[in-house]
Amino acid sequence: MRPKISVIGSGRVGTSAALHIGLRELGDVVLVDIVQGLPQGEALDLNHMAAILGLDVEYTGTNDYRDIEGSEVVVVTAGFIRKADMTRMDLLTKNSAIIRDVSLKIKEHAPKSKVIVVTNPLDVMTYVALKTTGFERERVMGFSGLLDIGRYKTLIAKELGVSWNSIEAPILGEHGDSMVLLPRHTSVGGRPLTSLLTGDRIEAILKETREMGAKIISLKGWSAHHAPGAGAALMVDAIVRDRNAVIPVSFYHMGEYGFEGVCSVVPAVIGRTGVKKVIELELNPEEREALIRSVEKVRQAQQEVDRLLASGAS
Ligand code: LAC
Repeated sequence: MRPKISVIGSGRVGTSAALHIGLRELGDVVLVDIVQGLPQGEALDLNHMAAILGLDVEYTGTNDYRDIEGSEVVVVTAGFIRKADMTRMDLLTKNSAIIRDVSLKIKEHAPKSKVIVVTNPLDVMTYVALKTTGFERERVMGFSGLLDIGRYKTLIAKELGVSWNSIEAPILGEHGDSMVLLPRHTSVGGRPLTSLLTGDRIEAILKETREMGAKIISLKGWSAHHAPGAGAALMVDAIVRDRNAVIPVSFYHMGEYGFEGVCSVVPAVIGRTGVKKVIELELNPEEREALIRSVEKVRQAQQEVDRLLASGAS
């Protein structure tokens, strides 16, 4: 039997993830959405794609969460994307209610699954999914690091005239403006980026990476979805094929990097059981300070969400 992989939310990001899961032949895909007809229509279209390409996968579209039963992995993309007239707090309020509802359904119908959260604000939504499902922390992880690193690598590759395949780069902290990229730990052919580019050029690349999400929204009118879908599928791949791949994921800290009780991005070994190991990098005082600022931002948002959910807001 092929693994079952469920994708919650049949918008652009969800269908992109489903597409890439199929291209990798990782398993059969269940698309879930509250909109009647949408997941069913997307599943038909994706099955036709699979037939054209000769892929051994089957897509099913449903509005019924009972169909996620037995899923090895559930990818959560449901929620609003930030529009120009929405504050960060609006997004936090609306999406925490959605992620709480979705997580309750996952807990009920796919209690053994690994959960990959893609919805923004990413780290806080990972926290909501973890707290609501009550799953062990190793089974709940947030997708974002591959996206930010992908962006960072494209800029370095262009600047240095090397393939992005030749670049190694970690990331820590929040998926947002305070993300912590680490040029000292970024290497090209074994040489640190700090020995290849001037401080000014590195700063410009870091700034451009941080602003890339917003730039894409302003150019095309909605959030990135090709890269997020492909990246989320790569995480599914690492899990169902038990690859033990080192991937940056948002993860609930219990002492790692000196933090407790907060979700933030770390490089981690990802395989069948989910997060198998967190990789701790040596940080200098400046990097540590940036990480503390970034993680504390997530912690504050988590506290806002705790208040919201406790007061029953939805
Ligand atoms: C991005 C946002 C939407 O980075 O998270 O594209």
